[in-house]
Amino acid sequence: MKNITTKELRSLFLKFFEEKNHTVISSASVIPENDPSVLFTTAGMHPLVPYLLGEKHPAGTRICDVQKCIRTGDIDEVGDNSHLTFFEMLGNWSLGDYFKQESIAYSYEFLTSEKWLGIDKDRLYFTVFAGDEDAPRDMESFNRWVEMGVDPSHIFFLPKKHNWWMAGTKGPCGADTEIFFDTGREKCCDDCNPACDCGKYLEIWNNVFMEYNSTGSGFEPLKQKNVDTGMGLERTIATLQGAESAYDTDAFAGILECISRLSGKNYKDSADTVKAFRIIADHIRCATFIIGDPRGIAPSNVDQGYVLRRLIRRALRYAMALEIPENKLSEIAEVIIEQYKDFYTELAVNHDRIIAEISKEEERFQRTLKNGMHEFSRLLPTFSAVGGIDGKNAFRLYDTFGFPIEFTEEMARENGLTVDVEGFHAAFAEHQKKSSQGAEQKFKGGLADSSEATTNLHTATHLMQAALRKVLQDDSVSQKGSNITPERLRFDFSFGRKVTPEELREVERLVNEAIAADVEITCEEMTVEEAKAQGAIGLFSDRYGERVKVYTMGEFSKEICGGPHAKRTGELGTFKIKKEEASSAGVRRIKAVLQ
Ligand code: ALA
Repeated sequence: MKNITTKELRSLFLKFFEEKNHTVISSASVIPENDPSVLFTTAGMHPLVPYLLGEKHPAGTRICDVQKCIRTGDIDEVGDNSHLTFFEMLGNWSLGDYFKQESIAYSYEFLTSEKWLGIDKDRLYFTVFAGDEDAPRDMESFNRWVEMGVDPSHIFFLPKKHNWWMAGTKGPCGADTEIFFDTGREKCCDDCNPACDCGKYLEIWNNVFMEYNSTGSGFEPLKQKNVDTGMGLERTIATLQGAESAYDTDAFAGILECISRLSGKNYKDSADTVKAFRIIADHIRCATFIIGDPRGIAPSNVDQGYVLRRLIRRALRYAMALEIPENKLSEIAEVIIEQYKDFYTELAVNHDRIIAEISKEEERFQRTLKNGMHEFSRLLPTFSAVGGIDGKNAFRLYDTFGFPIEFTEEMARENGLTVDVEGFHAAFAEHQKKSSQGAEQKFKGGLADSSEATTNLHTATHLMQAALRKVLQDDSVSQKGSNITPERLRFDFSFGRKVTPEELREVERLVNEAIAADVEITCEEMTVEEAKAQGAIGLFSDRYGERVKVYTMGEFSKEICGGPHAKRTGELGTFKIKKEEASSAGVRRIKAVLQ
């Protein structure tokens, strides 16, 4: 097996699939477009849902990519060997093109061929779907692995819990076959197998055969059979290199070195330094990609902005524990930008914004901590009267003012008080339970809501953005976020001041004029360069020659977009703006409906 770096694996993967006639597409934004159900792109399949459901992708039916993914559900677990909030997902896709036969053959060749990764086939193990009342036992995948040369004793049949993939509870899904690497450790028991979490077998790649649509109450066949594969870049490198974790690979070496320089401590000094170094490295890396995204956002108290705030603040708390001087987090971001900017050019473009937002948030948090000290002093007589700090208040100090429990304990000790640490953990667990339920509820099945109401509001969003540019006479007005449900649209855009009521009325008038004109909405595929030349707006990928879809609505709007849209503007009804407000610094938010 070759000893390769993350950068090499990324490019080998894309090169391999290019040779198999796949088109390389750029990573989509980490902020999902037009999807109110999730905060972040959590898997490579997420931005591709419309195409899995049958829309035509401009890049064709065979594509491959490296998708920036964010999963923050387990943010408090970061610091251990396995959790990362940001990771890169390598994927190859068949959109109604090849299915199990080729997919398995490609995976096998890439992993075992000397020309590619050259992994010893004896170290690979496989799982396939065992079958149940919803779908049959996946004999085709089993037989295909055997045909490729896999010993049947290396293949395990497992139930839905292990070998079925879907995002949330609705949308495209299907049986999968997963590929594991044997670390060479002792078996934990006689029937130790890849489903076991003892750590002997580590998953490196998942091939999902998406042929069903989950309606929430059952499964119906999709229009087409798709393949969605996912290989976590950092984790795979760690596994192949026998590293303890992704943090112990080249993906993090430079970042940890910077933290060491700033703190004067070594990563491996103690269990505490290992944890603190990892948290700072992970959180600032994730924050850099969120702020540096083409649809980048700033820290705030809602949605993605809130998650971003938590990431920066948690990193800062651990930076303080390592005695890193104030205002240094942005230096870590500099290292991250430098490391990734060649592949993710948006980080170079948005360099100044990343540095400014991280520095500003650091300053704000220092102030909050000071407010927390005030709050602590205010409550001190109450605490003293009862002889200690109860769990709920300890949690409030943590949640609202960012006091780590150790910090509260220290303050309590100084004042001769005790802290109900157990009560704190109970309040904490309760909160986590609520927020993870919230996260699941949010992820209802991706971009799949292509109902007429949502589609019409999506079309109205295009008309509104065009109208805003006209009325505000500002071409720098650009989409910062969009969240559309069947009931309303919510659109965030860059603009430095409040939009006046007169201007809003004029925007409404222009949109309704475009609706009354009842023009046809057309969609054309072209290269990014052609789209630019035609004056289309929207997010431009920087991959030269990449094909995109451009939706045109008469003379009113021309925008790069994946769809779907209404057929004619006349189908929309009457457009009405309900609210205009600040979303974050330099970003305004409009809520509007169609009546
Ligand atoms: N969508 C699949 C995953 O994320 C490939 O594992």
